[in-house]
Order: sequence, then structure tokens, then C-alpha cells
Amino acid sequence: MCGIFAYAGRETQAADMILDGLRRLEYRGYDSWGVAVRNNGGILTEKQIGKIGGAQVRMPESTAGFGHTRWATHGGVTQPNAHPHTDCSGRLALIHNGIVENFPELRREVIAAGHQLHSQTDSEIVVHLIEDALARQDGSASGVEDAIREVFARLEGMNAIMVLDSASDTLVAVKNGSPLVVGYGAEENYIASDASALLPHTRKVSFLSDGEMVVVTPEGVCLKDAESGEELEPEVTELDWQVEQAELGDYPHYLIKEIHEQPKIVREIALTQGDTAEALAQLVRESFGTFFIGCGTAANAALTGQYLFSRIARFHVNFEVGSEFGYLEHFLTPRSLVIAHSQSGETIDVIEPLTRAKKEKGVQVAALVNVLGSTLYRMSDFNALLNAGPEKSVLATKSYTAKLAILTLTAYAMDGRLEEGQELLLRAADLIEEQLSEENAGRIAELAERIYEKENMFVIGRGLSFASSLEAALKIKEVSYIHAEGFPGGELKHGVIALIEEDTPCVVFAPKDETHGGILSGAQELKARGAYIIGVSPEPSDAFDYYIPVGEAGNASPLVNAVPAQILAYNLALKRGTDPDKPRNLAKSVTVK
Ligand code: G6P
Repeated sequence: MCGIFAYAGRETQAADMILDGLRRLEYRGYDSWGVAVRNNGGILTEKQIGKIGGAQVRMPESTAGFGHTRWATHGGVTQPNAHPHTDCSGRLALIHNGIVENFPELRREVIAAGHQLHSQTDSEIVVHLIEDALARQDGSASGVEDAIREVFARLEGMNAIMVLDSASDTLVAVKNGSPLVVGYGAEENYIASDASALLPHTRKVSFLSDGEMVVVTPEGVCLKDAESGEELEPEVTELDWQVEQAELGDYPHYLIKEIHEQPKIVREIALTQGDTAEALAQLVRESFGTFFIGCGTAANAALTGQYLFSRIARFHVNFEVGSEFGYLEHFLTPRSLVIAHSQSGETIDVIEPLTRAKKEKGVQVAALVNVLGSTLYRMSDFNALLNAGPEKSVLATKSYTAKLAILTLTAYAMDGRLEEGQELLLRAADLIEEQLSEENAGRIAELAERIYEKENMFVIGRGLSFASSLEAALKIKEVSYIHAEGFPGGELKHGVIALIEEDTPCVVFAPKDETHGGILSGAQELKARGAYIIGVSPEPSDAFDYYIPVGEAGNASPLVNAVPAQILAYNLALKRGTDPDKPRNLAKSVTVK
């Protein structure tokens, strides 16, 4: 939630560079944005509501500053509520990611102290508290650090704050939740909420841990313990990502670009992640109780994993969505293994219960995660890195199929059949490629043309395809705002069928596995009530009004089924005129509860 980009260095047009950095981070939050720079010993800010788009900032020369893209929590989407917020003296500006849980009492304190508030945010309170703490000190640069440490210790909840001190070209950031990455350049340094935003500038980065504070100037970076103020040695990582991986290239949207990257990613997992799968399989074997957790698309991958483990490895694993997992922790023991699924590695609904389970129950943690250095990555005892490259569209696509690929491989490794799993994935990669052909994608675009004005849709699948139906419905909902629901094929007649009307589009996943007969019966029942049946299957059927052929992928059918649904969602978004990369109300990385 919220993108942060900060710079201190030689560049004299800091504001333009910051805005450019924010553009790369906008997928993290995009209801409003703002930039602050140090100028003539004071602070200049510019804030706007809406997406950045082609906006420019007209700010004078400056060599230090920061910017923020917002996803509103406290206070509506208004210009005053956009960050940065400044103190009364105009010396300090602040940006914030998180929720200050003791906001009401701190707000009362700030108002009682006579400060003028310009916004409804919890964030603005913090800058005034720092202003007061600073006034009680000597006003030197280290005074600012001490004031920030003092105030940060009073904030409840998971927060990251960054302060620009106009008395010097100094940026101070501190966090106990929400990611922050420091980038090292030559006489210029950066802080961003995501390493991919730093790629055009530097590959040398440090991921900040919770409880750490960083002081960034053009001359250097100083890492400290936020509680004691003691200096720490930063761990510097060299990123091997390519800039192009985070750029659009010739594609009109990240969503379609990332959909097209899937065959390559699945192939690479087949060829390079055998050892990871073996190691993860060994952890599962050694545990007494394995729990798969995740949120949104990651939850759908985790649920598919439960079926894959049952079917391929004949092994039971538990599944729960991240936000509910905390209420099931009574089962956990030090022998439990929790396998967390998360593209960003920052989703609070995963991190929070996991942190508790680790601390209080002593569980082992393994992660299927895409972002190196993320919170989940750092707290896990074992990481299966997805290596899918930066995923910029808010809709998770390639990270989903990458997780499915690793889960499939691990299930085969559990059963001592790793090579079989690898061959299957290579075949799945070819079948995904087929799905992306102009002919197939064209068929799906035609379908979108036929159904895009509908307000309700249903998707059904059984067995391995049940989670595919949830994921297909999620993709359609997220980006086209059509109300789409996924259901187990057998459950329809137990209630949902009441909603079927003449011409209601229903997507039916009908792979040639043991679910084939059952799911086609379900499709006929829907058809008999007027539904418009869209069959996704290796074989046509009388039940289908519209047929989307997919190759026969056996146990890899969830990977292949995902792709037509992604393409359909993309085309529905185009037809309905919604933003395929930044759908309303959503954010890529959900770091608040
Ligand atoms: C948000 C995104 C979803 C994503 C979910 C989990 O809700 O909008 O697309 O699936 O978070 O994200 P994660 O980074 O944990 O996979």
C-alpha cells in the first residue's frame, strides 16, 4: 500500500526524478500523490488527487526530496489528505505508510498543543509530534533523528515513516512494517518501497528490517537501531534484475505483458527449480502438519496446492486464507510447517498471523514468494523464490502460474517423481504458449465482445479446477468490475443456481480428468435454466454455447486453465473501458489490515 520514493544527491531536478520513481511504484496505491523537495532552506510540496498519468511537477531546482502515492486509509481521497504532510514551522515534511492505531489519542494531544491540522489523516499527526519533540531538543541534525525515534516509539500498529529535514539534505526513514529499500549510488542515495523502482539508478540495495532506521544524505547511508540509536552494519545486496523486466516495452499494459511472460517463467521453473522442489518436499515430509496460506490470487494458488498434493503425492496439507489463519493457530506446534504464498511478500494478512505463529508457537516457515528481500522472504526459514520478475499489474498473473509450477513440482518431488513433474511443466509451458496465439486470444476477444455488458457471471470447476474457477472469477471481478463468482461444480445446485437467468454467462472448466462427466452435467443443468455456457476444455461438448479449446495438460491443467481466464478478464476490461493495470479501489501490495 502506498509507494514511496526518496532521493538525496547531485541531481538538481530532484522533483522530476522523484515523480518518475513514483510512476514505477504507482501500482502500490493510486488514489492521490504528492512530492516534497528541499528548496532555499524550506520545503515545497505539490499534491494532486487521482493517478499520476502524464502529470508533471513544476518545482524549482532541488537536490533532495521525496514522493508518495496513496491508498487511503484515514481520511478520504482529497488533496489535503495526500502526502507529504508538513509541520507548522515548515522545516519538516513527512510521508507515511501504515495505520497509526493510537491515532485518536495522539490527535487530541496534537490539537491540545495548538497545531493547525490540514488533513484528516493519522500521518499528519506524526509530523507535528516530531516537531514538538524537536522543539524540546537542540534542533541539530541528530536532534531530528532522536525526535523521530522518540515519536516512532509511541506509534502503535505497523508503520513506516520518512521525514525530510529542510535544515539539511537529510532523509530519515524508520519502519516496523511496510517495506523500504535503500539504494546506493555515487554521491546520491535513494529510498523506495520497492527495489524495482531503483533499477534505473542502482542495483546496490539494502532491505530495511523492522525496527531499523536509516539516515540518507548525498554523502552516505547510515543504518541505526530505531530503539537504541546504535549504528548497524547494512547488508548490501546486488540485484541481478534487468530494467526491461520492469518496463512495458511494446505492450500497451503490464497485464497483457505479464500474461505473455508465463510460458518462459514456467519453463525456467521446470528447468531450474528441481532442487528447490526437493528441499521443500523434504520439509513437508519432516513436518507434522503443513498449512498452506495466502490471500487473493495467492490463496487460490495455495488451494490448488492442496489438491495437487492430494492427487500427485497422496499427502494431506491444510489450506486457509491468510486473514483467517490467525484464528486457527490453536492447532500449531513447533513441528508445524506453514508454507506462505505471496507475490509481494508484504501482505499484512499473511505476515501478521505468520509472525505470531512463529513467535508464539515456534512453527517453521517456508515461503513461495516473488520479491527478494521482502518481509516474508526475510522471516522464512526456507524460500522458494518464484523468479517471475517484477509484477506491476495489480492483477497477479505470472506470479500465480509460477506458484502453481513450484507446487506441482514439489508434489511430484514428494512422490519421488520430480522428472515427471518437470516434463509435465515443459508441456504446460507449450500449451500456455498455444493459448497466447493470435487465433486463441482472438476467440477470447470475440467472447468478451459478446458478454461484456453483463453484470453477473459464474465460473465452475471441480477437483483441480475448483480453485481455477475461483481465480478466473477473481480476475474478472478485479479488472472488469463484473460480478463474477467461482464455485465448485457440485455446489451450484445447492443454492447458486437460483441466480441463473436467461443468457447469464457461465464459464465451465472441463479438463479430461475424473471431473469431466460431473462438470458437464452441471453445465447442462445451467444450460437448461438459460445460462450461456462457455466451455474451457480439450474437447468440445453439446453443453457449450461458446468453446475455448485448451490443450490436455493432466495435472498441470490449473496452469493452462488460468490463461484463457486472464485473457478474458483483460479483454473485458478493454471493452468496459476500465484500467487493466490499476483497477479501482485495489492496490498491489496490501500492507494494512
Ligand atoms: C492484493 C492484490 C491481489 C493479490 C493479493 C495477495 O489483494 O490486489 O491481486 O492476489 O493482494 O498479494 P500477494 O502479494 O500476497 O500475493
